[in-house]
This record gives sequence, C-alpha cells and structure tokens, in this order.
Amino acid sequence: MTPSDVKVLFSAEEIAARVHVLAREIAAAVDHNCLLVAILKGSFVFSADLIRELHDAGMRPQIDFLTLSSYGEATQSSGHIEVVHDVTDRVRARAVILIDDILESGRTLAYAKTMLLDRGAEAVRVCVFLDKRHKRKVPIEADFVGFECPDKFVVGYGLDHAHYYRELPYVGVIGDQPRAD
Ligand code: IMP
Ligand code: MG
Repeated sequence: MTPSDVKVLFSAEEIAARVHVLAREIAAAVDHNCLLVAILKGSFVFSADLIRELHDAGMRPQIDFLTLSSYGEATQSSGHIEVVHDVTDRVRARAVILIDDILESGRTLAYAKTMLLDRGAEAVRVCVFLDKRHKRKVPIEADFVGFECPDKFVVGYGLDHAHYYRELPYVGVIGDQPRAD
C-alpha cells in the first residue's frame, strides 16, 4: 500500500526491469571477479537486487560494505563525511565497483572513491541507482546509472527521510514539492 503522502516515481516493476538491464551493462564492462563495495545504509536494497542480477549475468563478485556518515536527519549534505564502518576485504589491486543509492553533490562518492584508490585499488568504478546530475558540487560521474532522478527529495527502495520509508518497494516523492522543470 502506498502511504498517502508518497507519490510513486519509479514503480517496483520499472525498477526490476532496469536493474536487470543494468547488471548486463556492468557484466559487459567489468572484471567478473570484482569487489562490490555497497555504501550503507541507502544502497542495501539496490545492492541486494543488483548482485542477484549480476549472478544471472554471469558475474562472480565479492561484496563488502562501507558505512559513511552523511545527512543525519536533514535533507542537505553537510559536506563533512566520516567512516562509520570500514570495508574489511582486501582492496589493493582489486577492480572495485562502489554502489550507492543516489549521486547528488557527489561528496559521498568522491570521498569513497579517493579513499579506495589511496588504498591501492586497481580501478574504482561507480554504480548508482539514481543520479541527480544537475546537483553536483564536486566533479564525479557514475559509470553506471539506474535512473536519472528529478530534483526532488525521493524515498523508498532503501532511500530514507529521517530514517523512514526505506522499506517501500518503489521510489516516491513525499508531499507536494515544487517541480524542477
Ligand atoms: P551526495 O554526497 O550529496 O552525493 O549525497 C549522497 C547521499 O545523500 C546519498 O547516499 C543519500 O543518502 C543522500 N540523498 C541525496 N539525495 C537524496 C534524496 O532525494 N533522498 C534520500 N536521500 C538522498
Ligand atoms: Mg546514503
């Protein structure tokens, strides 16, 4: 059931179809024995769906997790990022794919990418479920993108607002927000 204050932007069916295709795009371009690093908490739903599609696409990845502090309960990036829980697998000389729920200012992913390259990763690619490409504050682009996202605060499929809504099986917009276009 859809909460009355949430308007669906990407349905569960649209998401499943896109993740299926996205996994094939990744499998065609990346070392099949790569290390996936999922940034928590937001990417846990996307990562869980993606790794099973990557399996169907013939890949044999390992998966590790990196928890970074970001927004807290606000909807604006503070710009200050800290490692809350670090990766435990070996990164040196590995082909790594960073997975996140959404790329907005780019601060979170730029921080994570630099950190893994500094630790000797052979290559670090970036895969995001959603891309707010007009909101970038630092120069970083994703190599793989699920959907372009309008300039609205979105929730569901792992994305939260004040730690709620992560369980929604679709992506939606909360309340009445001004149109970006
Ligand atoms: P960035 O560092 O500004 O690119 O922000 C990335 C992080 O901000 C994501 O991992 C999300 O946790 C959060 N974020 C950005 N936009 C949204 C949104 O529309 N809904 C929920 N979380 C968001
Ligand atoms: Mg996040």
